Amino acid sequence: MRVDVVTIFPAMVQQALSAGIVGRAIERKTLNVVVHDLRDFTTDKHRVVDDVPYGGGPGRVLTPEPLFRALDAIEALDEGRPMVLLTSPQGTRLTQPVVERLGRQPRLVLLCGRYEGVDERVLSRVDEEVSIGDYVLSGGELPALVIIDAVARMVPGVVGDEQSVAEDSFGRGLLDFPHYTRPAEVTSQATGHVLKVPDVLVSGNHAEIRRWRKREALARTLARRPELLDHAELDAEEQTLLRALLAGRTGGTT
Ligand code: ADE
Repeated sequence: MRVDVVTIFPAMVQQALSAGIVGRAIERKTLNVVVHDLRDFTTDKHRVVDDVPYGGGPGRVLTPEPLFRALDAIEALDEGRPMVLLTSPQGTRLTQPVVERLGRQPRLVLLCGRYEGVDERVLSRVDEEVSIGDYVLSGGELPALVIIDAVARMVPGVVGDEQSVAEDSFGRGLLDFPHYTRPAEVTSQATGHVLKVPDVLVSGNHAEIRRWRKREALARTLARRPELLDHAELDAEEQTLLRALLAGRTGGTT
């Protein structure tokens, strides 16, 4: 997959892309991310990318021409027409199904919005506006990084363990089960209580462990995000476990 990012803070985006799973995928060329400085597409001496809004009001708006020039240049850089996204609080809310849909695109362009907004005429070149949640950030750089991270995980070979992607929280519309690692017992400094790993996880009984994890994931989802259960894909065992949870017969530690 190729992703082109257009931003007025290229160093910020580039820096964040160098770490972790995404950084490794870029290094290994499983993922190709190219960051463009919007100011490189200006034609004036001061490399101005914004102006005051028509009609008055506070703040500044990103002007259309540098963004149009950036899109023209980026489209010519590789084969196939890319899907063009604009980060915006007005956009489609980013959810795992949206991430999966974007992950099937061979080419994405992410335009990072800024200031009070982007000239509306830019939308004539945008396929979809994407919001990462119902809150306002000062710019589209963090949303673009969130989109890239989530979408990159869908690209085969980016996450080493495909099983881990398949079992991800939200992969099937459920919250994740609790995780534990060594040591099997820790003493809380604050209370002096001994905190133990659930016995089932050290039992070596893999069928029981799998069942326990399913039950915990369901119990958590039921307690914290019950609306997710309306659309979750549950196998027969999970449906039975959920019925038992709903009937109050089986407790989970949520
Ligand atoms: N730009 C500012 N806030 C945003 C948000 N919540 N999502 C995407 N882009 C944004």
